[in-house]
Amino acid sequence: MIPADDLHAQFPPDFVWGVATSSFQIEGAAQEDGKGESIWDRFCRQPGVIADASDGLVACDHYHRLDGDLDLIASLGVDAYRFSISWPRVQPLGFGAWNEAGLAFYDRLVDGLLARGVRPYVTLNHWDFPQALQERGGWAQRDTVHRFVDYARGIQRRLGDRIAAITTHNEPWVIAMLGHESGTFAPGIKSRRTAIQVAHHLLLSHGLALQALRADGAQARLGIVLNLAHIEPATETPADQAQMRIDDARGRRWYTDPLFKGCYPQEVLDELGGDAPVVEPGDLATIATPLDYLGVNYYSRGVASADGSFDAARSGLALTEMGWEIYPRGLTELLLTLHREYRLPPVYITESGGAFKDALTADGRVHDTDRTEYLRSHIAAVAEALRQGVPMAGYMVWSLMDNFEWASGYAKRFGIVYVDYASRQRTLKDSARWYRDFLAGRY
Ligand code: FCB
Repeated sequence: MIPADDLHAQFPPDFVWGVATSSFQIEGAAQEDGKGESIWDRFCRQPGVIADASDGLVACDHYHRLDGDLDLIASLGVDAYRFSISWPRVQPLGFGAWNEAGLAFYDRLVDGLLARGVRPYVTLNHWDFPQALQERGGWAQRDTVHRFVDYARGIQRRLGDRIAAITTHNEPWVIAMLGHESGTFAPGIKSRRTAIQVAHHLLLSHGLALQALRADGAQARLGIVLNLAHIEPATETPADQAQMRIDDARGRRWYTDPLFKGCYPQEVLDELGGDAPVVEPGDLATIATPLDYLGVNYYSRGVASADGSFDAARSGLALTEMGWEIYPRGLTELLLTLHREYRLPPVYITESGGAFKDALTADGRVHDTDRTEYLRSHIAAVAEALRQGVPMAGYMVWSLMDNFEWASGYAKRFGIVYVDYASRQRTLKDSARWYRDFLAGRY
């Protein structure tokens, strides 16, 4: 293992270090300055779907605290800030008219980052999709693909000369499966068939958007962000091994095979039978449009057990507050697997972090040593992948600050900056101080 004190030296000077957030989770101002309704605004109003019955109406109030938050980001010494654009804030219905006040907000955000020497990494779809477009069928409708391309082109027209990267979608698996199969996330639909079609349309819209943005003269680098886990079998039995292969095909290769090889995994198509997606001629070639980078969000491993008996709580590994096992080695393994299977473009870890029980103590600090150790060990896992030849380009902490953790509400804190939800005051946790010192080359 790499000694903790020269971890920073394991990375090349042009490696991009950052922090990440998303619009719905931090902005608030959900009904201001002409913003349209998003599916998450609507979803939060349904009783029982958000653990603490909260919503995104105010969130971290980032919309009104932009300058202070920009200073906070800059104070960490990061190279990059990954944020997302709220589609309904800039184009309220998801088609047609643009909202100048919304666009102006992101102009200020981008210019404020550049003025502070921080590179903007923009995500177009981090889940707060326009409600009006949902009412026209949302991602289940093929036409939505074209609405997304129009939106992407509009954003590039406005911001494209000043941003470092554009990510089309954040975690298409989550949008498809949690949003449309289990229904635990917005828009709360429960249909496997719909979910599979949604996944296809997300990938298709990604490929078409890349082509359109390049045709329009893209200056930013273009990519996609996937949530990927390293899957291990619960035991070495043939049944668990087979389960591991199918789980890996469903959750990972369903996305990476079409992106890098232009085909869906046959074993998943076989299993889906009549629920397989409607794919038109040319769709897969479009999806396989070359990426400038791949973003990987990694939180934990997955464990495959044929009889479903695996229980993370009894695995012996430490868990975060989400109940996710802390398993940095899985990050190295995952990256090596991707490197073995595909010709990878530069890879960024676009999210890495953990929810822990944080408390503001009498000394005005948050002593989150568990989060610091989480970050340190996962950064070391990236260094190991780099050492073994994976083309790693960057690492971004999830998250800059505590925020609205979707169906878990505000109770789960992922920030390296603590947010007091009564005053909305921000306090650097010890992990933020550690990250700042690490970036300054001290560890
Ligand atoms: C990811 C999401 C991000 C955040 C983390 C904890 O799935 O992309 O918004 O909620 O999980």
